[in-house]
Formats: sequence, C-alpha cells, structure tokens
Amino acid sequence: MNHREEWHLDTDRIGRRVLVFDCVDSTNSQAAALAADCANDGIVILAEEQTAGRGQHGRSWHCQRGLGVLLSLVLFPPPALRRPVILAAWAANAVCETILQTSALEPTIKWPNDVLIRKRKVCGILIEQGAGTVVGIGLNLNQRTESFAAANLPQAGSLAIFTGQSFAYQKVARLLIRHLDDEFRRLCQGDLNPLQSSWRNRLGLQGADVRVECHDAIHYGRLLELTWDGLTLETPSGEVVRLLPESVRHVTADGHFLSLRS
Ligand code: BTN
Repeated sequence: MNHREEWHLDTDRIGRRVLVFDCVDSTNSQAAALAADCANDGIVILAEEQTAGRGQHGRSWHCQRGLGVLLSLVLFPPPALRRPVILAAWAANAVCETILQTSALEPTIKWPNDVLIRKRKVCGILIEQGAGTVVGIGLNLNQRTESFAAANLPQAGSLAIFTGQSFAYQKVARLLIRHLDDEFRRLCQGDLNPLQSSWRNRLGLQGADVRVECHDAIHYGRLLELTWDGLTLETPSGEVVRLLPESVRHVTADGHFLSLRS
C-alpha cells in the first residue's frame, strides 16, 4: 500500500516521519511490519480509514472514514520504559492532554488505557510488543450517538457528541503526536513522576474502594497507594495486599464493597 502524503514534524523523535494513508487494513499491522527495523523508530502511520482495525482482546475497531484519529507509532523504548503500564499511561495521558487542548473537555482514564469522557469511551489504545513496540491509538472525533447506537456501542462517545463541534483528524493527530513526543522525551530523561501523577489523578482511584481483577484472582479493598511499582490495597479484614500492575486486568471503583464496609 502506498501512502498519500508524508509529513515531517519538527519533533524530537516521534513524528519526524508520518506516513498518511487513505486506507489501510490496520495501522498497527502496518506499523508492526516496520517495527522489525530499529531505523524506523519514531515513524507514525496515520490513516483516514481502516478495513480491519484491531482492538484489545482480539476485538475489532470501527471508525467511519475521516471521523476519528487512527494512528500507530513505532518505537524502540529504552528497557526502563518498555513496561506496558508505563507505555499505556504515557499514551493515554497524551490523548487526555490533546482532548483538553482541543475541546476543553476533562477526560479520565479507565484502567489500563481507555480514555473516557463522562463515562463514555472516546479512545482505545492497543500496544503490541515484539522486536519493537507498536502503539496504536483510535480517538473518536465526529461520530454521532445514533451511529454508535446502531453499531451496538452505547458506551462509546466522540468529541463531537460532547461539544457539538466537528474536528479535523489531521489537526488533532498532529497535536497528539506532539504531546506523545514531548512526554516521551521527558520520560527518556528519567523524569517519570509528573506523568505518574497525571495518570493517577486521571484514574481517580486512589483512596477509593475498588474491585481489582487480576489474571488469577479478584481482590476487593481500599486502594491505599497506586504507583507503577504496585497497587496497595487494604482488604475488609485489614490485610494489606500488594499487586504488580502487570498482573492487573481491570480496576474499578466498587460502590457495593463500600456499602459492605459501612
Ligand atoms: C481497544 O480495544 O480499546 C483498542 C483499540 C485500538 C484501536 C486503534 S485504531 C488505530 C490502531 N490500529 C488498529 O488496528 N488498532 C489501533
């Protein structure tokens, strides 16, 4: 497949080459082919349309032509940053900053890396690691509530639904790439704390009564601490449990548990 145009942003690393396609199968699949060669570090694949967009857990990702940002980037992160929890936080936070700057809406993050506005999912992120890392981002811009309802996706949202405005996907994509690049540069300099704080605030779970679904068990408790090193939970019996982020599939605030405590 040939790209329609090529951008060269004046960024540090990510977006120095952006290949813009009319239509691809999946920007993640295209990026994965480039991720075999570290000379492709920082390349972004941006598409107006995907015919086989992929989501988490083998699901598909649908977005009508031009109605959202569909991009994937190729990265060879240093070993300290190759952790899914850090990459997910970095990508989700860059999406949140982009939304805030574009629309003044205040997004939140749902573990591990969905971005929500008023509890509706506006962005999904798919991170795939092989020789290199591929980070794929689908951000809904101009879809209407009716089209999500018709696709049986009542929990999905777009920026247009919450603002009544429409958005140019190229403009939003450029902004998103800049946020990704800025934050990645800070991470490479070892400055991880600002991102960790934003991520924690946007998850909004610290101090809450939560349900934590791990690969092998479900835990309930008050979330005492949340960092990239671990989640610290106080269970109803007063036991303190520490969980590694990589073992956690979902974390949700749990009102039922709250009522059991009081
Ligand atoms: C999810 O299931 O929440 C993740 C969705 C990720 C979708 C994006 S769209 C751009 C990139 N290319 C893909 O095939 N998937 C990701």
